[in-house]
Amino acid sequence: MRYETIQGLSIPKIGFGTWRIGGDSRADPTRDARSLAALCSALELGYTHFDTAEAYAAGHAEELLGQAIRLSGLKRDALLITSKVSSEHLGYAGVLQSCENSLLRLGMDYLDLYLIHWPGRGMHLAETFRALNKLVNDGKVRRLGVSNFDRKLLEEAVALSETPLLTNQVSYSLPDRTCVENGVLAYCQENDILLTAYSPIKRRFINDNKPLQELASRRGVTPQQIALAWLVQQPRVITIPMSFDLGHQAQNLVAADLVLTGAEMIPFARGKRN
Ligand SMILES: NC(=O)c1ccc[n+]([C@@H]2O[C@H](COP(=O)([O-])OP(=O)(O)OC[C@H]3O[C@@H](n4cnc5c(N)ncnc54)[C@H](OP(=O)(O)O)[C@@H]3O)[C@@H](O)[C@H]2O)c1
Repeated sequence: MRYETIQGLSIPKIGFGTWRIGGDSRADPTRDARSLAALCSALELGYTHFDTAEAYAAGHAEELLGQAIRLSGLKRDALLITSKVSSEHLGYAGVLQSCENSLLRLGMDYLDLYLIHWPGRGMHLAETFRALNKLVNDGKVRRLGVSNFDRKLLEEAVALSETPLLTNQVSYSLPDRTCVENGVLAYCQENDILLTAYSPIKRRFINDNKPLQELASRRGVTPQQIALAWLVQQPRVITIPMSFDLGHQAQNLVAADLVLTGAEMIPFARGKRN
């Protein structure tokens, strides 16, 4: 596994997402066996960074993640757990309460990384960060970050965070270059901030993309692995694919070690949406 060394931390280039674990926006206990099996296999395979949120399955994803980690017998400090506060809880008291609830559901006494999930309409970012900074000072959260922030909001967050902001989690994939176009990636790279790429695997794009499929078959890997390798080869970029499938989970994990040559990267160069 390749790591990104940043702000004195070593973060795996590929972690595991938990959206759709335990349900969608609502908890769906009928999926528990499948969800737990997916989390347990990810832990067994060696994923150490897990990305969750209070919004995922209305908190049930966090409950299942905590359960899977306890079943694994792994030590808490071997793992990096990210969770997120939803945009409707960004007031001072709301942030503190949301974090407490996430910790309870996970069965943990601290989060490695706590993010603002989405900027809220009419949010008062200074108030939100007053609470986030308190969580760090109280030892409930190790590091802070944001998600879905544009460059202007990201700069505001950087200024308000008393500890160096660790990440902005945004959609980034071969077909979705918004963070390149709006300057967010460049800002992260210039300011020692991780860009965590979510939704890195785009099924329709991959199925329709001949150069990607040809490169994958030349390299003896899958197009999804090329898509992940393309992301994590970029400085300061990590990603968090999600899969229920044991084979896909294993393929995604080893994609972190797949190195593409300069020539192999050319068909996917900036601006080319082939
Ligand atoms: N901050 C935010 O607002 C935000 C938004 C969206 C997502 N996220 C986070 O990012 C994580 C990942 O994003 P995502 O779940 O939207 O999308 P994703 O990981 O890009 O895609 C998941 C889909 O790809 C398939 N897949 C995964 N690996 C594959 C492989 N090697 N070969 C073939 N198919 C594969 C999965 O199917 P199988 O199960 O069949 O493998 C699943 O249908 C989420 O789980 C969540 O933690 C954050």
